[in-house]
Order: sequence, then structure tokens, then C-alpha cells
Amino acid sequence: MAAAIIDGKAIAQDIRTELKKEIEKLKANGVTPGLAVILVGDDQASHTYVRNKDKACAEVGIHSEIYRYPADLSEEVLLQKVAELNEDPAIHGILVQLPLPAHLSEDKVIDAISPEKDVDGFHPVNVGKMAIGKEAFYSCTPYGIIKMLERENISLEGKHVVVVGRSNIVGKPAALLSLKESATVTVCHSKTKDLSAFTRQADVVIAAVGKAKFLKKDDFKPGAIIIDVGMNRDENGKLCGDVDFESAKETAAAITPVPGGVGPMTITMLLYNTVQSAKQKAQ
Ligand code: GUN
Repeated sequence: MAAAIIDGKAIAQDIRTELKKEIEKLKANGVTPGLAVILVGDDQASHTYVRNKDKACAEVGIHSEIYRYPADLSEEVLLQKVAELNEDPAIHGILVQLPLPAHLSEDKVIDAISPEKDVDGFHPVNVGKMAIGKEAFYSCTPYGIIKMLERENISLEGKHVVVVGRSNIVGKPAALLSLKESATVTVCHSKTKDLSAFTRQADVVIAAVGKAKFLKKDDFKPGAIIIDVGMNRDENGKLCGDVDFESAKETAAAITPVPGGVGPMTITMLLYNTVQSAKQKAQ
């Protein structure tokens, strides 16, 4: 039987509609959720992401401020801006778009963001809380995957989740959040030997490799659930995931497409985290 196609775009839209209502309530109580985004340099992909974040904020009613700086910005000025935003009562979330130019320390900048405003979920305090199963801001892409599965009534309890990729932004937090949902978790990465032997055992595969159509139908067991985090270009320049969608969907139980799967959930969870932060301040 052909796989169910998980419509991330529709799920993201549903969550945004719910957020819009929550934001209206917050505003009626005198609190407008605010997000500050810092963008350094002229990486075109980063500029596009930031524009999309700004647009998404406007659509749901979140106040957003974008700070664009030239690539030669000093670390001192950047840290000063973060310190200022930490103290700004109109700002509930701070996001520094990555990657930063090489002369700026990403670790130093992330450490400088108040954990209470770290809506990206990158601060070691939030990562640590996630690791011990506590409430915190969770990294938006993996958190989006968890929310998406929840909305599809797919429980991870007792399932074998195989995460392919160990980045701090996706792979590691996806593993920790799956564990929090009581999955049995395996993390594979570029040095894993016989990757397919692992992915073929998985009830759920979370693919975050960054290689176009890297995993194919035979890498999955029939009936698997496939979550594709990849955003790549294929040989014709067309957007595609880490999974060969056309072949994999023949035997999977459910699969996310690219585009229209995990992608729309990421910005949605940024909005979600910003609203949670504003709600905590409104209490
Ligand atoms: N660059 C690529 N993805 C992200 C993200 O989720 N947050 C930030 N801050 N930068 C990114």
C-alpha cells in the first residue's frame, strides 16, 4: 500500500491559526509577543530565512525586529546588542541567525543570549534541560517533528527511532526528544558502518544528512515512518530531501515530502516558542 503523505504545510498552518488566537488574547492583556533577529553578513540563504521569519511573525501578529549587520561586525558590538535585547521588555525571543562569519564565536554569542529568551533552543541551559527531560525551549526543527507526529496521532512510545545525523540543531535534539517520548533511539552519522543495517531496523527514520536522495527504498523496512529533514537540490536543481521520496513512498507507512513536510514546521515552532516565552512573562 502506498504511504500516507504527511502534510507539514497544513499542520503548520493549523498551529499558526491557533497561535494567532493566543496572540490576540495576549494582546488583549497588554502583552505583544516580540522577536528580535540578528543577521550578520550577506549569506543569501540566511537573508531569505530571516525574511521568511519576519513575514511569518507579521502574519500571526508577533512584533519582530530585524538587526542586519555587515560581515565585519565586531564581536563586542554583537554581544552588546544581545545584552541590550536581553534587557528589553518588548522582546521575548532572540535569534542570532547562523552561520556567523568565521571571526565571530557562535558559542560565545549563543551563551550570551538569556536562556529565557533563547527561542532557538541553542543555549546550553536549554539543551541541558532537554537532555534531562525538563520543559525548556527546544530546537525548532526537531520540536516541529515531534509536534507533527503528535498531530498525525503517531506515538513514538516503544518505537525504534533511528536518527541519521548528529548536528546540534537537528540530529542530537531529535534523538533526545524522541527519547523523551519513550522511543528506543539509535543515532547514526557519517562514520557509522553499514548504515542501512540500522535504518532497516527502524520503525521511524529521521533523516538529517544533507545529501540529496541519500536513503532509498531498500534502506527502510516496509511499513516504516520516514521523516525527511533534508533540503537539497537534485541533479536538475529541483528541491529534494535526504530520502528518495518516489521509491521510498512505495513501501513506507507514512512519509514527509520535501518541500511541504518538515520545512514549514521549523518557523512555526519559532513562533510557538516566542508565544510561550511571552506567556511566561504575562503570568
Ligand atoms: N541557521 C539554519 N537554521 C537555523 C536555525 O534554526 N536557527 C538559527 N539561529 N540559525 C539557523
